[in-house]
Amino acid sequence: MTAGTTSELLYLTREEVVACASRLDAVAVVREALLLHAQGRTTLPAEAYLPWETEHGHFARSLSLPGALWGESPAIGLKVINSSLGNPLHGRERAQGLTFLFDRETAHPLALMDAGHLSALRTAAYTVLSVRLLGVAAPRTVAVIGGGALGLAHVRLLARDLPTARFALYDLSPGRSAEASRTLGADGIDITVAESAESAVRGADVVVTATTTTEGYIPMKWIEPGALIAHVSLDDVLSDVVAEADLVVIDDWKLISEDDRRLLGRLYRTGELRGPAGEVYDPTRPLGRRVDATLSDVLLGLRPGRRDPGQIVLSNPFGMGILDVALAAEVYALAWRDGLGIRLPR
Ligand SMILES: NC(=O)c1ccc[n+]([C@@H]2O[C@H](COP(=O)([O-])OP(=O)(O)OC[C@H]3O[C@@H](n4cnc5c(N)ncnc54)[C@H](O)[C@@H]3O)[C@@H](O)[C@H]2O)c1
Repeated sequence: MTAGTTSELLYLTREEVVACASRLDAVAVVREALLLHAQGRTTLPAEAYLPWETEHGHFARSLSLPGALWGESPAIGLKVINSSLGNPLHGRERAQGLTFLFDRETAHPLALMDAGHLSALRTAAYTVLSVRLLGVAAPRTVAVIGGGALGLAHVRLLARDLPTARFALYDLSPGRSAEASRTLGADGIDITVAESAESAVRGADVVVTATTTTEGYIPMKWIEPGALIAHVSLDDVLSDVVAEADLVVIDDWKLISEDDRRLLGRLYRTGELRGPAGEVYDPTRPLGRRVDATLSDVLLGLRPGRRDPGQIVLSNPFGMGILDVALAAEVYALAWRDGLGIRLPR
């Protein structure tokens, strides 16, 4: 990350980030970041989680995800992404945020850019990679639960990788699913609105959860043999799915085990889940199922992925700040080269 000078801070709007990101192969950037992570060439501190209640009684939170990648061009930064569940009720985006990039030498901030688009893109790119590595060969049906920013980003990126797949979208808000499906259909994607989460999940080769639920609703009995569940919103499947899936693949055990709010962190605390190296939270409790691998391990061939087409695979990406920083660094380099953005004096 050498593009800028430390006397100026480059600010990039959402539109500028979208324009630069459209020129990148996000899946390749995420793949490279995962490889660096598997080689121990990243720094990935814990997520900071700041919750509060808004004046109108809605749940709001701020997540801070720092990360550094020590590849050929080191990249150091921080994503801050905030959300309030009251926003959609007023026609506002639920989540918004900013990603910083830092200068390696001076540690001064180099760039500041809209975080929302890259956050959705890096998450969808991780899912595409999971489908390539852990899905059945040529998945034909994809269920997406949740038609918000993440759901849309997933359909768009997966449709590029799986051009003949049929998508079924379900959202608790019928207006949201209808609007999302109209928008995506107009782009030539084969997509229908499902009547329920169950009807979308049953028969799907790939299931993506992109909701805001904090309570599980997907039982194992809905899931088809061979399906890959990309459990992006982290609280949608019931614990029997974690216990009975043939393979549980995560992005980072430290992030998952340090978190006591989402499903896998909770199951670790109750003894129903062990880490990939057999880590237990409380040695006096009976041993639960073990996490099988990280996606980086599978990518490097250190641990096996799917072994047969009938296996049910649960992929649970907690979300790593290094992926945001990796994409932001690429966007920054393009923007700097093309003279995009506002150069703010210090
Ligand atoms: N794991 C990761 O790396 C990662 C990264 C970014 C976001 N996320 C998570 O992804 C989720 C979606 O983010 P977003 O920005 O698209 O949110 P959003 O608010 O834009 O959209 C969420 C949608 O889910 C719908 N929904 C809520 N509960 C539902 C349920 N039980 N069944 C069906 N639909 C339901 C809502 O109506 C809404 O349309 C959030 O939980 C966010 O925290 C995860």
